[in-house]
Amino acid sequence: MATSTKKKSKRRTAAAKARTGWRTARTSDRHELYELSVQEPSAEIAFIERMWRERRGGRPQLLREDFGGTGYASCEWVKHRAGNRAWGIDLCTKTMAWGKARHGARLTAEQRARMTWVKGDVRAGGTPPVDVVAGLNFSYFIFKTRAGLVEYFRAAFRNLKPGGLLLLDAYGGYESFSVQKEERDLDGFTYVWDTERYNPINGDVLNHIHFRFPDGTEMRKAFTYDWRLWTLPEIQEMLLEAGFVRPAVYWEGTTKDGEGDGVFRRKTVGEACGGWIAYIVAEKPMRA
Ligand SMILES: C[S@@+](CC[C@H](N)C(=O)[O-])C[C@H]1O[C@@H](n2cnc3c(N)ncnc32)[C@H](O)[C@@H]1O
Repeated sequence: MATSTKKKSKRRTAAAKARTGWRTARTSDRHELYELSVQEPSAEIAFIERMWRERRGGRPQLLREDFGGTGYASCEWVKHRAGNRAWGIDLCTKTMAWGKARHGARLTAEQRARMTWVKGDVRAGGTPPVDVVAGLNFSYFIFKTRAGLVEYFRAAFRNLKPGGLLLLDAYGGYESFSVQKEERDLDGFTYVWDTERYNPINGDVLNHIHFRFPDGTEMRKAFTYDWRLWTLPEIQEMLLEAGFVRPAVYWEGTTKDGEGDGVFRRKTVGEACGGWIAYIVAEKPMRA
C-alpha cells in the first residue's frame, strides 16, 4: 500500500519500473498485467519446496493449484522439475484458454503432458490425491461464510494425500479495513488496488484492480473481487475444524525502510501494521 506504515506485498513488486510509455489501455492485455502485478511463481515454488523440505523432507511432485486462473504457477511447476505434475482448477473457461495459449504453448510436449487444466469448482474432486494444494492470491476469500469456507477446506483436505500440505495466503492490516487505494508503478503501467467497500458488520470487502498507463489511459475494473476479509486466527481455526493439523503463519520480514523483504518466517506474533501479506500452511495428518 502506498500509504502503508509498513510492508505490503514485496513479493509482488519484482517487476521493475523499467520502460515507460510503451503500454496503453488499448494495447494491453488484462491477464498479462495481472500476472506481472501479483504473481511470482518462482517465489511460490521455492516456498512450496521449502515447506515440504522442512515438514516432510525430500521434494513434492504433485501440485493442485486451486483457483488456478491462467495456470501460470502450474505451468512453471511442471517446467521446474522433470517429475512434477500439476492440475490447475478454475471455473472460468476464458481465463484458462488464455493461459493455455500463453503458458501451455511455451511448454514442451513432454511438459504439457504433465500439466492439466481442469474446468471446475475447487470444492470438487476429480484429481488424483496430491502432495500440495495451493490456493493463492486470497482467492478462497470468495467463500463468505464460515460454513462455506470450512466446506472448501474439507474439499482441499480430501484432495490431498495423507501427509499433504495446504498452502494459502492472506492479507490484512488496519488499512485493509478501510476504503482506500494502493498504487504501485510497475513495468510501463501502474497497478491500482482499490478497496471500494468494507462492511465491518459482516466482513464483506469489495476490491477492484485497475491499470493506468503513462498516456493517461486506464483499464478500470480489470478485475473485481467480492470477498470476505478473513483474519488469520479465523482461518487457522477453520483449518483445524476441517481436519488439518499444525496450521502455521509465515510472516514477512521487514527492510530498513519498512517495506516487506520477501522473506517469510514462521511466527506466532506479527506486527499491527497498515498492510501485510502472509502465507498459511496446514498439514493433512499422515494417518488421515
Ligand atoms: C484471484 S484469481 C486467482 C488467479 C491466480 N491463480 C492467482 O494466484 O493469482 C481467482 C480465480 O478463482 C476462480 N474461481 C472463483 N471461484 C471459484 C471456484 N469456486 N472454483 C474454481 N475457481 C474459482 C476465478 O475464475 C479466478 O480465475
